[in-house]
Amino acid sequence: MKSKSKGGFSGSLGFILVAAGSAVGVGNIWRFPYLAAQDGGGVFLMIYLLLVLTFGFTLLTTDIAIGRRTKQKALTAFGSINSKWDFLGKLTFLIPIIIMTYYGVIGGWVLKYVTVYLSGNKSQATQSDYFTSFISSKVSPIVFMLIFMAVTVFIVYFGVEKGIERFSKMVMPGLIIMIAGIAIFSLTLRYTDTCGVERTGMQGLMLYLKPDFTGMTFSKFLKILLDAMSQLFFSLSVSMGIMITYGSYVKKDVNLSRSIKYIELFDTGVALLAGIMVIPAVYVFYGTQGMTSGPGLMFISLPRVFAAMGSIGTIIGLVFFLMVTFATLTSSISIMETLVANFMDLFHMSRKKTSLIMGIVFSAASVVICLGYNVFYFKLPLPNGQSAQLLDLMDYVSNSFLMPLISFLTCVFIGWVVKPKWIVEEMEASGDKFTRKKLYSVMVRYVAPIIMAALFFQSTGIL
Ligand code: PFF
Repeated sequence: MKSKSKGGFSGSLGFILVAAGSAVGVGNIWRFPYLAAQDGGGVFLMIYLLLVLTFGFTLLTTDIAIGRRTKQKALTAFGSINSKWDFLGKLTFLIPIIIMTYYGVIGGWVLKYVTVYLSGNKSQATQSDYFTSFISSKVSPIVFMLIFMAVTVFIVYFGVEKGIERFSKMVMPGLIIMIAGIAIFSLTLRYTDTCGVERTGMQGLMLYLKPDFTGMTFSKFLKILLDAMSQLFFSLSVSMGIMITYGSYVKKDVNLSRSIKYIELFDTGVALLAGIMVIPAVYVFYGTQGMTSGPGLMFISLPRVFAAMGSIGTIIGLVFFLMVTFATLTSSISIMETLVANFMDLFHMSRKKTSLIMGIVFSAASVVICLGYNVFYFKLPLPNGQSAQLLDLMDYVSNSFLMPLISFLTCVFIGWVVKPKWIVEEMEASGDKFTRKKLYSVMVRYVAPIIMAALFFQSTGIL
C-alpha cells in the first residue's frame, strides 16, 4: 500500500478490484451462510439486501469520500477535518486490531482443509465431529494459523501486495465460477435420513430465499437486524478504516458513485451465491437442526457435498479450499497492511521492522484465540442469545458492539457537524452525478444514527 500511496490506483477498475479483494473474504463464504442459516434463511436475506442498498451504500460512500477528500489514513482523517473528532480515528483503528487477532485463525482452518483434500482423505472430513475435534485440538490449529500468518506477514514485509493483487485478480473470477458451479450442484442433492424423510436441495433453496415470519417477535427481529448489520460491516470492510485508507489512494477523476455500486454488487453477489452453495446442502444432510450449527457450518456441510460428487469431488474440494485461502489471504493482507502502515507512521519505524513486530504480536494473540477452544475454553452468554468462546467474543466486540458505535459517531459527525454537502461535493468532484444524493443525506442524518444507536444498545443487552 506504501507503493500505492505514492502513485494511487491506476483508475477506477484498479480501485474496484482492490477494494473488492479486501471485501470478499471468509466473511462472504463462511460467515454469511452460517448467519443466514442460524437466522432462518429468508428473513435474514431480505433484511440483508435492504441494508446493503441503504446502510451499506451510505457507510461505504462516507468512508471512501472521507478518504479521498482528506487524503489521510483513518487514524488521522477525522482529526484533520475537525480536531475535536480526532478520537474517532483512534476508535476506528481498534477494529482492524481486534479482527487481526482472529482472522488468521480462520485462515488456518481453511488451510487445514486444503491439506485434507491434498492428502486424499476427504471421507474423514465428512464425519460430523471432524471440524469440532480439529479446532479443539491443541497443536494443529496453531500450526495452520502460524503458516497463514507467516505468509501474510511475508507479503506485507516485502511490500509485494501489488504482485498478490495481480494474482488475486486471476483467482477471484475462478472462485466465483467455482462457487456458482458448486451452488448448482447443491440444488440437485437429495437425501433420505434414518427416519425415512427425504429432503431435497430445492427445498433447502426455498428455505433460504422465502422469508418466513411465523413466530417472529420484536426482539427476535432486532437480533436478526443486528446480525445482518454486523455482517454488512464485516463483509464490506466499512467502519474500520480500511475503505478510508483506500479512498485516499483514489484519483480525483474516478467516478466514485459507480465504483461503489460495483463494490456492493461484487461483495453481495459472492455472499448470496455462497449461501446457495452451503444452505441447501446443510438442509439436505442435516435438516433444519443442522442449520443452527454456527461457525462450523461451511466446514461441516461442504465436505458432504464434495463427497456426494464422487471421485472428482476430491479435486473440486482441493481447488475450492485453495481459492478460499487466497480470498482470505487478500483480506488478511489488507488488515495487516493497515496496521503496519499506521504503526510505521506512529512509531517512525521501517516497514520491515514494523511488519516483524506486528507479525509476532498478532501471531501470539492468535495462539491465545486458538487455545480458546481448549485451554481457555469458556461459554459466555452474549446479549444476542448465543454463547461465545474467545473467537466469537472478539467477533462480537468488533462487529456487533464497536462498529455500530463507530458508525453512529461517523454519521453524527458527517450528518450534523460536517454536513452531507461535504461528502456530496467529493462524490461529484469527478464531474459525474451522484444519483443517490437525496437518499444519502436522509440516511446519514436521520435513519443511520437512530438505527445504529438502537443496535448499539441491543448489542449491550440494554434493549
Ligand atoms: N471483508 C472481509 C471478509 O468479508 O472476509 C474481512 C475483512 C477484511 C475485515 C478487511 C476487515 C478488514 F479490514
